[in-house]
Amino acid sequence: MCGIVGYVGKRPAAPILVEGLHRLEYRGYDSAGLATPEAGGLRVIKTEGRVQQLRNLIKEEIPAAVGIAHTRWATHGEPSDANAHPHLDSAGRIALVHNGIIENSDRLRAQLTAEGVSFASETDTEALAHLIGRLMAAEDAPSLEEAVRAALSRVEGTYGIVVLDRDNPDHLVVARNGSPIVLGIGEGEMFVASDVAALVRHTQQVVYLDDGELAVVRSDEFHTSTLAVEASPVVKSPTTVDLVADDYELGGSTDFMSKEIHEQPTALARALSGRLNERFATAHLGGINMEPRELRAIRRVKFLGCGSSYYAGQMGAQLVEELARIPADAEPASEFRYRNPVVEADTLYVALSQSGETLDTLAAAQELKRKGGQLLGVVNVVGSAIARECGSGIFLHAGPEVSVASTKALTNTATSLAMLGLLLGRVRDLSTADGKRIVAGLRRLPEQVAEILAQEQAVAQVAARFADTRSMFFVGRVRGWPVAREGAQKLKEISYVHAEAYQASELKHGPLALIDNTMPTVIVVPDDELLSKNIGTIEEIKARSGAVIAVTNAELPAGLVDAELRVPRNETELDPILFTIPLQLFAYHLAAKLGRDIDRPRNLAKSVTVE
Ligand code: AGP
Repeated sequence: MCGIVGYVGKRPAAPILVEGLHRLEYRGYDSAGLATPEAGGLRVIKTEGRVQQLRNLIKEEIPAAVGIAHTRWATHGEPSDANAHPHLDSAGRIALVHNGIIENSDRLRAQLTAEGVSFASETDTEALAHLIGRLMAAEDAPSLEEAVRAALSRVEGTYGIVVLDRDNPDHLVVARNGSPIVLGIGEGEMFVASDVAALVRHTQQVVYLDDGELAVVRSDEFHTSTLAVEASPVVKSPTTVDLVADDYELGGSTDFMSKEIHEQPTALARALSGRLNERFATAHLGGINMEPRELRAIRRVKFLGCGSSYYAGQMGAQLVEELARIPADAEPASEFRYRNPVVEADTLYVALSQSGETLDTLAAAQELKRKGGQLLGVVNVVGSAIARECGSGIFLHAGPEVSVASTKALTNTATSLAMLGLLLGRVRDLSTADGKRIVAGLRRLPEQVAEILAQEQAVAQVAARFADTRSMFFVGRVRGWPVAREGAQKLKEISYVHAEAYQASELKHGPLALIDNTMPTVIVVPDDELLSKNIGTIEEIKARSGAVIAVTNAELPAGLVDAELRVPRNETELDPILFTIPLQLFAYHLAAKLGRDIDRPRNLAKSVTVE
């Protein structure tokens, strides 16, 4: 959420900063800006709108070889030129970009205003720029590093910041508490970013700052230390990221959502690779450092995630209960820490996150660790905060997911949880025959997903037929319920069509009142033990003139539904994974038909690093 880029080196900074912002635009895209030093001052260019608008404002070459830049997702103050980052102190000496939220900004703002400071924006960030600037204006002025430390000691909240001093433009000061910051190590040049996506074009050598750390970054060196006013040095060595610039390119695709939907067969194959064991009919999950005896001691599993990761957790809970016959459930991570949860010693808690940065999920993981819970992470981004907090778990291997609407990460999460269910089942009562059946089913998934994607045009035609609908129901039973929830979420997120998910069995307890010929229903109909119940629900909807779109692998009676989205057969336990795919295509094509900006849905951003 919000993107930060910084550069100090030997080349003109501005093109590097703008290119970096472009890579980070999926994290926030309502305003953008940059600051570089120039003779006698700071040059600040910022604007409401996209990075392209910022690019258009840069009319001449800017020679400065140092600078900071930001793309914003508004928290305090509407998207506007004034609220765009960087923010300056009153003297125009300090420029600062910030991700996160300064929770005591109202108090700081009131104190600073009483001291005569005028504010140019409504943001929480500006108070911090003034605090640093005022410290540096004092007679025995501290260094920028000391001023940042002292100013941050007065700040409550979360931040990833980069600060530039007009009078000492040979370095940047960077600090982190709750919002990611990574340094990129070049040859005679250094980069700073909130996400490696902005760095991999220039270097694969990176250093992740941890919470409570500060770095002073010069073109040829960096020093890291703790954030405390009485700082201690922290020695950090660069690690190599296994990503290149092409991973963040569109290639031949029109947008990242479409690209990532079509990457699913390969992404799934990567997630499964080396993790299925035919001989013992189980899964081999190297990141879970638990002996069979410890796995057997688990009495309950709880999945914690937000949005699509939560729905993937619901799919996982169903899989664990079916395969391992132990109670499992999923809960939104965003609520977890606020209800003083009872943490049980024999429950396995699993934090789910594509980005590994979602603040609510990170906070749930921290609460669990504080209470001594057994915790695993199921995360896509290696080195991310949640991956490091959890220490062990399963990496998704989905590759970078840029689209705000999650697709391949959800599929890989559900598949990883199926492997976890298989592993837990095989140390209990899941037979070898059933284990083999699930292993074979998992192996078939990449090919079957490709088969569904090959029917894209048919799904697009169905989506086009329903594109002028204002509201839809998505319903499913048991295994189909999280599929319906994820389908509704995807449609809302990118098309802005209202979509509400219900358990199909709940329809008659109230929502059926809304069914008429303007309210279509998408129903998830696997050919399983609940087929006749789902057919009954379809009949009830049809009797009230509602249109029905069935996602199905069953042979439904002719003329029963208005449209079918077909899914190949696999083992019923794995149905949710396959049934999700046509609904991604449905949401995508309906949104495309409505002319939506698919990769940049309004009001949203990838990686929610604020509460
Ligand atoms: C999915 O389409 C959404 N953009 C959103 O619900 C997302 O899944 C959620 O914010 C959690 O993100 P995470 O998996 O990165 O933690």
